[in-house]
Amino acid sequence: MTRSKPPSIRIAPSILASDFLHLAEEIQAAEAGPADRLHFDVMDGRFVPNISIGIPVLKSVRSATDMMIEAHLMIVEPERYVPVFAETGADLLIVHAEVSPHLYRTLQQIHDHGKRAGVAINPSTPWIVVQEVLELTDLILIMTVNPGFGGQTFIEAMLPKIRVLREEIDCHGLDTDLEVDGGITLQTAPAVAAAGAQVLVAGTSVFGSPDGPTEAIRELQRAAELGIAGVPQ
Ligand code: DX5
Ligand code: ZN
Repeated sequence: MTRSKPPSIRIAPSILASDFLHLAEEIQAAEAGPADRLHFDVMDGRFVPNISIGIPVLKSVRSATDMMIEAHLMIVEPERYVPVFAETGADLLIVHAEVSPHLYRTLQQIHDHGKRAGVAINPSTPWIVVQEVLELTDLILIMTVNPGFGGQTFIEAMLPKIRVLREEIDCHGLDTDLEVDGGITLQTAPAVAAAGAQVLVAGTSVFGSPDGPTEAIRELQRAAELGIAGVPQ
């Protein structure tokens, strides 16, 4: 039996935009896409001006799915919470470079807990801050909106940053994933994919889609793949 080639673009639905009253069904619908992973946004009201979800919700989500869960920690002093997020079942922990003066140590700490490690950078943060830790990362997350809220408009000026990091990762022969987060829609997915992002976080465009999450994930993936192929849409 010949197997079809796995898609090069992976979609990470952000449950921040889901209907929390029906979270289990929302997760099932995302799984059917299939989504590659679930994106779990943690906000502390300090690093970002909003408060979202934390450990108790992660515990429920973990019990509801075998999908990979990535915790996007938009919190100050993330190193204090690495152990509990790891124990609660996040598979990949993403910390922000802006609040991690000892980023090298924090990434080691995440690995010591047996988890994959990612670094996120805000729109105003230059890519160079991750240069010295690239080899320790499983994923780099480029914020394409200012973190703190779902449903914002994609910042197009982030495209060159995606291109440069893609080049940096490739020229060092690393298998670090390059992810984008914020404002990813059918209109913006082709451009970020063409610039070199492989993992696309999408909240509103997945859980707010009139077609439902399953179909929305497929459409996003299709649009992104066409973007890589250079097909005008
Ligand atoms: C924003 C969060 C995002 C957010 C994306 O601070 O990190 O993950 O949920 O939402 P959309 O896709 O609606 O921009
Ligand atoms: Zn996020």
